[in-house]
Amino acid sequence: MSNPTPVRVAVIGAGLMGREVASAFGRWFALLDCPVRPELVGVCDVNSAALDWFRQVPTVRHFETDHRALLAHTDIDVVYVAVPHHLHESLYLDVLRAGKDLLAEKPFGIDLAAARRVRDAGVKLGRFVRVSSEFPFLPGVQRALAAFNTGGFGKLLSIRNSFLHSSDLDPTKPINWKRQTKFCGDAGVMNDLGLHVAHVPLRMGWKPKRLHAQLQKIYTERPDGKGGMAACDTWDNATLHCTVDLPAQSDVPLTLEMKRMSPTDTNSWEIEILGTDGGVRYSTKLPKTLFTYTRGKEQAWCATDLGFGTPFKTITGGIFEPGFPDILMQMWAAYLAERGGLLDNRFGCATPDEAVAHHELWTAALRSHAEHSVVSL
Ligand SMILES: NC(=O)c1ccc[n+]([C@@H]2O[C@H](COP(=O)([O-])OP(=O)(O)OC[C@H]3O[C@@H](n4cnc5c(N)ncnc54)[C@H](O)[C@@H]3O)[C@@H](O)[C@H]2O)c1
Repeated sequence: MSNPTPVRVAVIGAGLMGREVASAFGRWFALLDCPVRPELVGVCDVNSAALDWFRQVPTVRHFETDHRALLAHTDIDVVYVAVPHHLHESLYLDVLRAGKDLLAEKPFGIDLAAARRVRDAGVKLGRFVRVSSEFPFLPGVQRALAAFNTGGFGKLLSIRNSFLHSSDLDPTKPINWKRQTKFCGDAGVMNDLGLHVAHVPLRMGWKPKRLHAQLQKIYTERPDGKGGMAACDTWDNATLHCTVDLPAQSDVPLTLEMKRMSPTDTNSWEIEILGTDGGVRYSTKLPKTLFTYTRGKEQAWCATDLGFGTPFKTITGGIFEPGFPDILMQMWAAYLAERGGLLDNRFGCATPDEAVAHHELWTAALRSHAEHSVVSL
């Protein structure tokens, strides 16, 4: 079995996602013959208590509370940054200027202008930059896209991609940075959940030419955690009704849904492509099941149990079902493989151009909502 030289990775932001990444690296041996291998060597968080969890990771040797101190270490090749959105641009630029490669978190800057500046800096400085978006690495998503690419769907009727939560339905849930525009950004839920629904359409070439957006703010204040109330001013739910031209067909409807208030949903990611002759649907609600149909006198969804057919092969039983930690590891394998020129024909992480394009959609959506108009892109 190959044992490639490790790529030395550091994490800035030791919160939810920083820990998930450490955990993905910790079971890297689950990957079979992966041509790349990360080693977590450093962590940085302004909250020193957040660093303590990482002390159980044997390979971590740098513990810093100032990201500049972390970036000064010469034994770091790649930096993963998972901090609130208003800090993305300055920290991403510092990573690139320090001569490190970057796996950025979405939304890749708080707005379109920030995303363009980071993308351009990465190009100018010659760094390898990608953006975190793990759902395409699910076997069900790969199979859905392969089914579409094989053809036979006939005339396309609609494409829909959604990412839905329900945790914000509880009005007593205390405020946090993701619910405040100054930290999350004007695009609100689109900044938070949007790359998850834009990555696949943009990669497939389904780039909207115009859109109409419906945005909702449901609860305008939340408990501040100190006995009072705080303004909750981000968009909670967003539905974008888009029009797409495909090579063989123009004016195809594409719907992108991002919701923090979607009753019954917890991290529910779904794609559905419907044509006159065939269709496909995949949802994380049923993580091992691919739904397909072909036209007949009557139509019915055919449910196929997929098992564990991930892009990078693993020791996991072929009939087992995949989950979030698995696809995060697959995404990192794709990032490191592409960085090393070893991705082959596998699906790659979201590119800076795709991240800029997704911000173009949210900018258009904000305008559409404000003007009650259809916006051309
Ligand atoms: N890919 C995904 O599925 C996914 C899921 C959740 C969040 N995210 C993204 O990850 C990023 C972080 O989200 P999270 O949920 O991990 O947030 P979090 O609030 O759990 O953690 C953020 C951490 O950043 C630290 N921090 C703040 N300022 C810092 C600074 N200047 N230097 C170093 N550390 C600093 C905070 O102390 C905190 O520990 C966001 O961009 C978010 O959109 C991605």
